[in-house]
Amino acid sequence: MMRAGLIGCGRIGCEFDSDAERIGIYTHAAAWRAAEGVELYAIADPDPAKLANCGERYAIPLERRYTDPAAMLATEMLQLVSIAAPDRFHAGLAEQALSTPGMRGVLLEKPLALSVEEGARLVEQAAARRIALAVNYSRRYCPAHERVRAALSSGSLGRIQQVGGFYGKGIRHNGSHWLDLLRHLLGPLAALQAWSGAAADFEGDPSPDLRIRTAQGVQASLLACDHQAFSLFEMDIVAERGRIRILESGHRIEWYEVADSPYYSGYRLPVLREQDGSGMRDLLLAAVADLRDAVHTGRQPRCNGQDGLAALQAAEAAVRSLASGRQEPLP
Ligand SMILES: NC(=O)c1ccc[n+]([C@@H]2O[C@H](COP(=O)([O-])OP(=O)(O)OC[C@H]3O[C@@H](n4cnc5c(N)ncnc54)[C@H](O)[C@@H]3O)[C@@H](O)[C@H]2O)c1
Repeated sequence: MMRAGLIGCGRIGCEFDSDAERIGIYTHAAAWRAAEGVELYAIADPDPAKLANCGERYAIPLERRYTDPAAMLATEMLQLVSIAAPDRFHAGLAEQALSTPGMRGVLLEKPLALSVEEGARLVEQAAARRIALAVNYSRRYCPAHERVRAALSSGSLGRIQQVGGFYGKGIRHNGSHWLDLLRHLLGPLAALQAWSGAAADFEGDPSPDLRIRTAQGVQASLLACDHQAFSLFEMDIVAERGRIRILESGHRIEWYEVADSPYYSGYRLPVLREQDGSGMRDLLLAAVADLRDAVHTGRQPRCNGQDGLAALQAAEAAVRSLASGRQEPLP
């Protein structure tokens, strides 16, 4: 049994467990509890009420509940840790976790950090100490999205013509999910250009519209919408022989095939063939199990620090491009 700790007992740390609408495993605490070969051993959160709530739900003994994450890391001889604190604390907490003697795997909530400089330091630190560093871009752990990736890489849909999509709530905070998904599905990103939309920022993180080019020459347009109105996360991939629409944050995926138009002779249309609603269940369980296996085998996690860094580089380039009005190349 490896000992796992949790830093941050808020919504994705623990509280989503109380949401009756969520079926399956949506929190780090539930994931560590459900995964084999690991034990949710200790928890930390500076907010005593959040700490008590998580401690009661998961029957963590009082002496293993910490208001100071550093004290937990120094005391409990953890081999694995999840970091589910707000974005601005990710880099500092990850640095502490990666400096902890005996640590073997860290699962960090996205974004990796708030700056590329901080993120790159974490990736280097993890590599130097041979600690597996995973970043929770959750769609990478989703079988329905892996099916999309397999279809695209098989070439069965033909040339990709355009990718479109929507996001909201900050380019680093939520837009980086979209940038990571684009990179995961279609390969490295080469350049992007941002321009101002009307969508709301998230805690100072702007939500620009983007035009993106991948290294393979695919063009993508990402438009921001105001998260205060409602949540919107969609990706629409239009290829030569088909179309795939990732809708409702990935809970529903529509598969279209190009066929003769039922309306006019001589025209071809993408026709809806299948709706995949298998969705986004238990992705955190898949993420912690993957990290555990990465630690055992020495391979990289499915979404590793470099992936987190690439998403952050693209998000940071978007912020630069928004300020300069220029296209930004990506490393
Ligand atoms: N991967 C995903 O799809 C996904 C979904 C939701 C949230 N998140 C990420 O998870 C993180 C947490 O989001 P949330 O919605 O659960 O937030 P939240 O505010 O509900 O919870 C954050 C918790 O961290 C605690 N905290 C604050 N400062 C801390 C510190 N210095 N050390 C330890 N704990 C601290 C807070 O008391 C709170 O309990 C964010 O970075 C967010 O981007 C990711």
